[in-house]
Amino acid sequence: MSESSFIPETYKDLAEEGNFHWQAPSNIALVKYWGKHGEQLPRNTSISFTLNKCFTETKLQFERKDSSNFQFEVFLEGKREKAFEPKILQFFKRIETYLPFLKNYQFAIHTANSFPHSSGIASSASGMSALSLCLMSLEKAILKNDMDDSIFNRKASFLARLGSGSACRSTGGPLMVWGEHPAVKNSSDLLGVEYPYSVHKNFSNYRDCILLVDKGEKQVSSSVGHNLMHNHPYAQKRFEFANSNIGRMVNILADGDLPAFIEIVESEALQLHAMMMTSLPYFILMKPNSLEIINRIWQFRQDTGSSLCFTLDAGANVHVLYPESEEETTFNFIKSELLQFCRNREYIADRLGAGPVQL
Ligand code: PMV
Repeated sequence: MSESSFIPETYKDLAEEGNFHWQAPSNIALVKYWGKHGEQLPRNTSISFTLNKCFTETKLQFERKDSSNFQFEVFLEGKREKAFEPKILQFFKRIETYLPFLKNYQFAIHTANSFPHSSGIASSASGMSALSLCLMSLEKAILKNDMDDSIFNRKASFLARLGSGSACRSTGGPLMVWGEHPAVKNSSDLLGVEYPYSVHKNFSNYRDCILLVDKGEKQVSSSVGHNLMHNHPYAQKRFEFANSNIGRMVNILADGDLPAFIEIVESEALQLHAMMMTSLPYFILMKPNSLEIINRIWQFRQDTGSSLCFTLDAGANVHVLYPESEEETTFNFIKSELLQFCRNREYIADRLGAGPVQL
């Protein structure tokens, strides 16, 4: 498979007007992607849990109108959001080769997130996935063929990657892999694929309670952060480490080995943040309360033998991961010991999700 396989044949005639509406989830990486090359290609393989409650809903309205420019407006919860438009413009420029109809339409992109804007949860993965799925529905309508679901999903993920790398892991679920790896069949640098093997029951319905520590208006955007991995003194070792963690994770997911799972997931979170702290310029996204939470998690695990663990995204919020069988005790611990470190005691009790839905 290569990029050129996503270029369509010439369209016979275009749809006139209409709309498509998709809901797409956020995801949390277990083995992290940090560092890219070429056009949004990953320097190592990553694997993520698809979430259930954290999602973006996007409605794409389209009307036939030929132009030499891209014509679109973005609305967040009904209000024009000009701040999002440069990112969408860059996305349209990157994907035009693969969706050559873009300049034949005027678009209104209506988007809303299930999580508050101030939560510090990035909407780029769910947002780019939802928009890519809407655009694929339009291409499918134009082609008037019975596009196979797997072709539809693969191209949606391929497009989403060009919007925001980790978005290509938000087009399916409950586990997604992005980046070619010998241990994961059909894995690719060009798109995310659903994890192709069976997974031990320990991981079914896995919980992710997201503790909202800080609204995290990012001091450093993720594209700047990825770029700091060029010429980073530890980058090469980091990429090798992540790829070897993917190999280990495949065995862990099959065997249900929770202690080994915890070790990889926490180590990956800390390696991601260690890369940030050792970049030039260096930066720290964790807050004192993130560290308080991590220490309490370690203490609780030592005291009780619980299987809860933490992971982090590019921010201060802490994702607390735990098996469904430990729901009650873990949630009581979260309420009594961890919520005090969240802004206004806010959290989102989420779990593994199955992927996007057309509305
Ligand atoms: O998708 P981007 O370019 O915003 O990169 C985000 C990468 C992390 O969220 C920090 C890690 C990951 O693999 O999701």
